[in-house]
Amino acid sequence: MYATGLICRECGTTYDAEARYACDVCFGPLEVHYDLEAAKGAVTRESIEAGPASIWRYRALLPDPGESPVDLGAGWTPLRHAPRLAAELGLADLWLKDDTRNPTGSFKDRVVSVALSVARRLGFTTAACASTGNLATSVAAHAAAIGWPSVTIIPFDLETSKVAMTAVFGGTVLGVRGNYDDVNRLCVELVAEHPDWAFANVNLRPYYAEGSKTLAFEIAEQLGWRTPDQVVVPVASGSQLTKVAKGFREFRALGLVDGPDPVLFGAQATGCSPIATAFANGSDVITPQRPDTIARSLAIGNPADGPYVLDELRRHGGDCGSVSDGEILEGISLLARTEGVFAETAGGVTIASLRQMVERGTIDRTKTTVAIISGHGLKTLDAVVDQATHTAVISPGLADAEEALRFTQLVAAS
Ligand SMILES: Cc1ncc(COP(=O)(O)O)c(C=O)c1O
Ligand SMILES: [Zn+2]
Repeated sequence: MYATGLICRECGTTYDAEARYACDVCFGPLEVHYDLEAAKGAVTRESIEAGPASIWRYRALLPDPGESPVDLGAGWTPLRHAPRLAAELGLADLWLKDDTRNPTGSFKDRVVSVALSVARRLGFTTAACASTGNLATSVAAHAAAIGWPSVTIIPFDLETSKVAMTAVFGGTVLGVRGNYDDVNRLCVELVAEHPDWAFANVNLRPYYAEGSKTLAFEIAEQLGWRTPDQVVVPVASGSQLTKVAKGFREFRALGLVDGPDPVLFGAQATGCSPIATAFANGSDVITPQRPDTIARSLAIGNPADGPYVLDELRRHGGDCGSVSDGEILEGISLLARTEGVFAETAGGVTIASLRQMVERGTIDRTKTTVAIISGHGLKTLDAVVDQATHTAVISPGLADAEEALRFTQLVAAS
């Protein structure tokens, strides 16, 4: 284990590895710090390849999970070559990091596995979170698997599947009449009242966030220990994007990859695009926005890591997409039709943003590009049921079937 403790991202003050998320000196956010010098040479491609087919193959580069991690099998999801989608978008070499293939169907299983492992090591016995949906599902599932009670707090009017997929695990699910930013404010107050609850993305946030580094680690390893040139990441609070950047940097510092750090690109829905707006305006200030988009999982109007996302986007000449609800639905459909991957609305945001940034020339068509598909389409069926339905409804007779088929592509092509 090479994690040494926590460090303030603003002033560099260091702390022990405890349940603390803000700096006493400057109130800046804390993150986990590693002794990369000591890890260099000790953490090798071979030592990683010998590990399990989950995020825990990178255990040496994650916070200490204690004796054994809280593990439903998050991570080591497929990196799929996507030539048909690439051709559609005019890209030479496109890959999909298919994080629909996680235990509860989203990348949140990575961050929750890390957060609850650390929480258990620190002596917590109750799991909690503020969520736009996917995090709640993952916290409820991981808590159930270790026999912990959970308290997950979400906007009450989320997609039916997300509420059901969370409630089924038997924890307490609080639906708040308000948006995620209201939920988050409430949870900050609840942490003060219940310091013995492990809120994955509040008091355990520094550890939770580290789980997203494994996306970068896996992408590089699966490309044959090579970094891609460009990576497109969906952005809500901005935690995922900033930690994907950190993951690539750590692999380079350890000499585990060939190639420079990739250029990072963000993806947001126009109905909740405070970071895309600040980026487009060349501003360092994120103006909070009241979300109004079908991409409920990305509906965070006041993103905690916003300024750090802007830094990462600008570091190597990236960009940030901003796409309408119509474009999101087209993105879901395009991905499904060309590559057989069914994504939730966040995936639609990623694909539509990719298309937008290719068209305006900020994404280089000739370079190796990875798009992170962070959640499964079954989670947001509500968004697609109107357009994704029967081609025809017929009686069970051959004549009726043939009649209906005459109007379909199948017959037209034969
Ligand atoms: C499916 C999905 N993708 C991406 C994100 C964005 O994550 P972050 O808040 O780390 O930016 C979320 C956040 O809830 C999500 O649920
Ligand atoms: Zn500080």
